[in-house]
Amino acid sequence: MLKALRGTKDILPDDIGMWQVVEAFARDIFSIYGYKEIRTPIIEDASLFIRSIGDATDIVRKEMYIFTDRGGRNIALRPEATASVVRAYLENSMAQNQDLTKLFYIGPMFRSERPQKGRQRQFYQLGVEAIGSDNPLLDVETIVLAARFLQKLGLRDFKVNLNSLGCEKDKQAIIKKYRDIIKPYLGSLCAECGERSKKNVLRVFDCKNEKCAEAVKGIKFDNLLCADCAEHFESVKKGLKNSGVDFIVEPKMVRGLDYYTKTVFEISSPDLGAKDAICAGGRYNNLIRDMGGKATPAIGFAFGMERLILAGKDKISMSAPSIAVFMAIADKALEYDAFKMMSLFRDNGLSCEMDREGRSLKSQMRKAQKLNARFTVILGEEEFRRDKVILKDMNSGEQKEAGMDEVLKEII
Ligand code: HAM
Repeated sequence: MLKALRGTKDILPDDIGMWQVVEAFARDIFSIYGYKEIRTPIIEDASLFIRSIGDATDIVRKEMYIFTDRGGRNIALRPEATASVVRAYLENSMAQNQDLTKLFYIGPMFRSERPQKGRQRQFYQLGVEAIGSDNPLLDVETIVLAARFLQKLGLRDFKVNLNSLGCEKDKQAIIKKYRDIIKPYLGSLCAECGERSKKNVLRVFDCKNEKCAEAVKGIKFDNLLCADCAEHFESVKKGLKNSGVDFIVEPKMVRGLDYYTKTVFEISSPDLGAKDAICAGGRYNNLIRDMGGKATPAIGFAFGMERLILAGKDKISMSAPSIAVFMAIADKALEYDAFKMMSLFRDNGLSCEMDREGRSLKSQMRKAQKLNARFTVILGEEEFRRDKVILKDMNSGEQKEAGMDEVLKEII
């Protein structure tokens, strides 16, 4: 029997309710914060990601799904959406007429990683990008948005790790300094970290190999930020404190993508074990310029939806799926009339179901309860002759006769 590919999963009807709740909460809060949805293609020119995420990163070196299409083009399944959003922003001249462009997305991403709990090869991200301002209050707003979203979902015990990588100059100074510091450790690092130390030494601190993590554990990170970046970081911290968002400064957090500058952050949940972040993001003030646009500062984040749902399994408040009306039929001869009425309910926006198996009235009532129906409409032969039905309020248990033409109005 054919099976779903390793690292991919079906989201089944029994589980979809949770996904829909999370998406609905996200759409709601993103819109309150001024974000509009964007949907970009799942396939892109591979060079988009190679240039933006960086050719020394694990994502580009080992995890990206790349194929050559029939026209000989190098295509990638998107491993993340920030690069695609920036491409779309530039290609569609979205900067026109507004100084700040706020976009959100929900959709599948692809990375060929070793699958484990909360780590898949096709996974969903839910993210935002705010393009056009370097104001530290926008960093604060972005992190506050992520925190409020989690709180709204019922998740409270998350941890926000914060760091600043500085501007391009600071980053170069940091890289230069750590290239020297790392030299004595090279013998204990994996071969790839040897390569990383030449291309982008900060990637060594991001290596998933336990031996490498152990080797560099003792290296202390100093503050190498220029005065401007240090001030920006102070303002972000002050703003977060004012907003009541707790955070921990984590000087070794370098993030797995090269486009970041200044503020970076990760949010983790104790339900997922030590390493896995539910959300991650940061500033990427040079990416738009590097991709051929005008220098434009920007910041964003993405939640991993599988991880969000794992962490929120018992916390996300969900009411059982319900329907508005269940049509019960006392006599199978009335099946066509019940069907007609069900169509009328549906045409008027009410979800409705009916029995199709000729079950007894008692077992139909049990089914109505199981489906969590708000009302049950019972069609009986005697009432039907008088153009009446019985309307039962499933919350109070009360029932009464109602005219066929009134029942829709009553339910609405
Ligand atoms: P990222 O850290 O690569 O950042 O991914 C963001 C989140 O996606 C992670 O924190 C995690 O929850 C989830 N995630 C990543 N890989 C997997 C996987 N294999 N399986 C399940 N979940 C996964 C980005 O993608 C950036 N684009 C975020 C961003 C937006 N930065 C600025 N704007």
